[in-house]
Parts: sequence; C-alpha cells; structure tokens
Amino acid sequence: MNDSSFTVNEEGLRQALQALVDIDLHQATIDLPKTLPAKGIGEHNVIAELVPLILGGARHLGSETAFAHMDPPTPWITWATTMWNAALNQNLLHPDVAPVAREIETQVVDWLKPFFGMSGGHMTPGSTVANLTALWAARELRDVKRVLASKAAHVSIPKAAHILGLEFVALDCDASGCLDLGQLPDDLSDAAVVLTAGTTSCGAIDSLSTDIDAAWVHVDAAWAGPFRLSPTYHSILDGIEKADSISVSAHKWFFQPKESGLIFFKDVASAHRAISFGADYLAIPNVGLLGSHGANAVPLLATLLCWGLEGFNERISRAMGLADQLHQFLREQSEIVVFGPNVSGVILWRATGVAEPRILVDRMPAGSASTTRLAGEVWVRHVAANPNANMAALTIAIQDALSAVD
Ligand SMILES: Cc1ncc(COP(=O)(O)O)c(C=O)c1O
Repeated sequence: MNDSSFTVNEEGLRQALQALVDIDLHQATIDLPKTLPAKGIGEHNVIAELVPLILGGARHLGSETAFAHMDPPTPWITWATTMWNAALNQNLLHPDVAPVAREIETQVVDWLKPFFGMSGGHMTPGSTVANLTALWAARELRDVKRVLASKAAHVSIPKAAHILGLEFVALDCDASGCLDLGQLPDDLSDAAVVLTAGTTSCGAIDSLSTDIDAAWVHVDAAWAGPFRLSPTYHSILDGIEKADSISVSAHKWFFQPKESGLIFFKDVASAHRAISFGADYLAIPNVGLLGSHGANAVPLLATLLCWGLEGFNERISRAMGLADQLHQFLREQSEIVVFGPNVSGVILWRATGVAEPRILVDRMPAGSASTTRLAGEVWVRHVAANPNANMAALTIAIQDALSAVD
C-alpha cells in the first residue's frame, strides 16, 4: 500500500520549514481538542494548526536576550540531521537495524574521549542518565556503598544514589561554591566521590587536580565539560583525566538538540561489561540504562564536522566573552553585588535594596534570567549558553528592571 504519511512530502516539509523562517514570537491561544479526536485532520492542517502553539509559544533560546539557563540555541545542521534521524528511526539496540548509526556513535566517542583522558563511553539522553550510569558502574565494579559530593552537586547525584540504594553524603562548599576537600573523610575505600565541573547554581569547578584516594571518582562535567575541547579554556579542567568516569551534556555547551549527553569511562571495557545485560532476542548485549535508543550522535558528529575545533572554540569563547562583559557591567553598578568571578559562564547577582530577586527577573524579558539559592541567599542568575546574545540588549533590560523597582 502506498501510504503517503510515510513518504517524503516536500511540500509539507517546506511548509514546516517556512514556519520556522516566518516564526511569530507571539503566542497564540489555540483550542486543542479536549479528547483524542476520532478523525484526523491530515498533515498540512496539523502543521498549520500547531505552528502558532508550538513555534509561537516556545521560548527562543537564540534570541538576543536569551541568557537564563544552561539551554543553548541549536545550529541548523542539527535540525537537518535530526529530521533524518526521525525519518530513519534507527535503533542502536539492534546492529542490524542501525548499521551506520552505531558506527557514528563510536566515531564521536573516539573523537571526544582523548580530550578527557578516557578510553571510551557511550551516548545518553543527558547527564542525569550519565551520572546514574557512572554510579551504577562504580557500584558494580568497586562495591561502592556511599556517594559523596558537595551540597552544590546536581540533583541527579542524590537521585542516582537513591535509585542505586547507596547512601548519599552532601559535603559543604567553600566560599566560591566548590567542594571543600577538607570535608572528605580519610577512608573513602567504599565511596564514590563526585566532583562537579560547572555547578548548576554558579558554575563553580571543584578541584580536579587533587588526588582523591576513593573507590571511584566521577566528574559531573555536564556543563563545563566542552571546555576540554577549547585551547582557550581546556586547562580549567586539568586533572579531569584522573577520573574513573565523566558525564557531559551534549545538549548544553555542545549545542545539541535535547536529549543528548555522554558518559565516558577510564576503563570502558570493564565498565560496559559491568552494566550490560543480554537477552535471547538480542544479537549483542544491551549496554547501559537505555533499551531502544536513537542516533543522537548524528547531529553531534555533523556539528563537530561543520565547526571543527576552531569553530567550536569560537562559539564557546564568544559565550564566555559575553559572560565576561556582563560580569564587568554588573560590577560597575553601585547597587549590585556580584557572586564571584566568571568561572564557566554562570553569573549571579543581587541588588541591594531588592529583597526578592524574583521581582527583577519578572521585569526582564522572559528567558533572560533565572534565580538560584546559594549560600543562604537568592540570586539573579544568567547562563552564557547563547553565543548570539546581545549584551547591549541584556544590560538595558537589567537597567530597566532595576529602575522599575527604585
Ligand atoms: C552540573 C549538572 N549535572 C547534571 C545535570 C543534569 O544534566 P541533564 O539536564 O543533561 O540531564 C545538570 C543540568 O543542568 C547540571 O547542571
């Protein structure tokens, strides 16, 4: 049967693409059916109906004031390759239905692993899953019973400990938001220590160069991991190569569509063996947490091929340069207190005389700032995920928000 829903429809795809070109940022209300419709309206009508809701209602992460969270805009090569992925629907669980896609993932991991001093790894849907995968391997291989991390560690760390039946111990941070290494107990023979490279709240990077004699050391480099590819910034992560495992979110500073991340292991053969399961219907063992999973490496490979190391470094440097400019601007405002230096593009500030920073965020363009609690205070937070932000527009927005509460 020739079912037109499953064949290339250039006109429909052009209609969808044109909607991206003509994007109207003003959200339109649209009445979706309250119950699942009995009759379909067809592809062209669906595109027309959904454009105002899905495209108009979304937050645009590449807009000039987008600077709120660790969520970047994505380069168009990832849109094209993600469309191929959706059309081909390869399943990396089964080599026979994903012959090339599996090789692409191996290639991307092979390109990236030397920057981190790891022997291999695999893709995950982000660092939440990568962190759980790492601690699962630590439990299997080193009989880890406890997970120690700073109080600034991402929520996925205590969550992973909980899922794995491990005790979670939260340790104090120093004034810059890094794990205070003096808090580590002497005997770590049953412990996995998790260091964070780019904390969620303030971008702090725990000391990676100190030797930690623990059963397992994991570095959660969800945010700052991509620094390792940058000649300008890679030395900030010196020591990361000592870890047993490293998580990186590709949908953060690798500019990938969600969900995309990586877990790397120092000894990938042992780690993958420890987290593999076979089944009668599988041609090869199922490695890691996911069963069926798609070819997320394809857009990542395409992006790395497009930009090369130079183009990649240029984007990271541009984002960091914007964070530097913002930091400098904030420091020059007499009524503003800034939290620490720009370590990895996460900038926090408070205004003296404004008890509730949320008021300021609500007065700024949506998506330009967020809030976080740190050291007992609530701060306004900006994250340099968008290399195309316009600092003049952002600083005007901050000034307007401040003058509105004066
Ligand atoms: C330090 C850190 N670790 C882990 C995560 C979780 O990563 P993901 O959102 O890719 O699951 C985040 C997310 O912001 C993070 O900032």
